[in-house]
Amino acid sequence: MPIDLRPHDPAHHAAWRELLAEPSIALQYDAFQGDGGLAHKLADPHLRPETIRFAFDGEAMVGFAFAWVLGSGEAAWGILRVAVHPSHRRRGLGRTLAREVSAAVTALGVRDHYTSVWQPAEDGEAFAGSMGYTHARWFWMMERARGAVPSPAWPAGITVRVFDRSEAMLRDWNDAYNGSFIDHWHYVPSSLENARRISEAPDFPADGLALAYRGTEPVGFCRCELYPTRGEIGVLGTTRAARGIGLGRALLRWGVDWLESHTTTPVTLLVDGDNERALSLYRSEGFEVRRTRRVLQETAAR
Ligand SMILES: CC(C)(COP(=O)(O)OP(=O)(O)OC[C@H]1O[C@@H](n2cnc3c(N)ncnc32)[C@H](O)[C@@H]1OP(=O)(O)O)[C@@H](O)C(=O)NCCC(=O)NCCS
Repeated sequence: MPIDLRPHDPAHHAAWRELLAEPSIALQYDAFQGDGGLAHKLADPHLRPETIRFAFDGEAMVGFAFAWVLGSGEAAWGILRVAVHPSHRRRGLGRTLAREVSAAVTALGVRDHYTSVWQPAEDGEAFAGSMGYTHARWFWMMERARGAVPSPAWPAGITVRVFDRSEAMLRDWNDAYNGSFIDHWHYVPSSLENARRISEAPDFPADGLALAYRGTEPVGFCRCELYPTRGEIGVLGTTRAARGIGLGRALLRWGVDWLESHTTTPVTLLVDGDNERALSLYRSEGFEVRRTRRVLQETAAR
């Protein structure tokens, strides 16, 4: 039976969830697992529905591909993800899916294409290499053994507020994000609309987002996320003007405490392996590397 590729259609979500749960695929897509995992990820404005492709063998879904697109214009970059059911591997299907999703990303005006692979993954690594992707960066998933969390010691002059879904706090959160990540690898500014979409996702835990203020100025934040298999310090940042005063540590402790009281699953976070400042903070708060993810950039001609 010939394989046909189909665009995104919510009618395929049940089949998609089933394919995502196949053990070798689940290892690469842990945050997509469970009843709410896929819905949670699809609510992320960076996962672009127009890039999603499904591969069907008759009525059986045997593969999928999609891309995250971060930013817009010249600075935009795409992260492509592909998976093929073990019964259909080494037949060129992954390559076909990757080319399709790559074309969809290019059609959005995005030139810089990346992919990422959780280690160890011989097939994923070999596949990415064969598609012309080479090493760009390591990211680490760190985990903290459950247990007592020291209370946050808020620096002098800092007040902390939990996100109340107001327009003013939405703007403050977006400003704090942009102020915190401006000098990061592949930083792309977040828009207010982007923040709004994240906050309106069905399972967005509003009380798991804390903002730190100095006077009326937002100078840091910590956003917690709940996945079926883990709780995550999703994003944590302090603006340049508020670094070196213990605010990151205090926000991290606030986040760990929030996660420990909202889930019994492991408390994790994902960090750029080259971000020494963040790594030493996380290590000193009891986090240890649990998994590594390689980010690869397409360097050969498409
Ligand atoms: C990685 C994956 C998508 C590859 O799908 P696939 O349909 O088997 O890939 P293709 O048949 O199109 O392979 C294309 C090329 O990749 C390379 N490749 C793929 N799998 C390989 C393996 N297990 N060992 C060595 N090379 C491999 C080969 O060069 C292959 O070309 P060839 O068969 O002509 O030698 C699939 O193994 C998978 O779903 N793995 C789990 C999820 C995952 O790791 N995804 C990648 C992260 S986004």
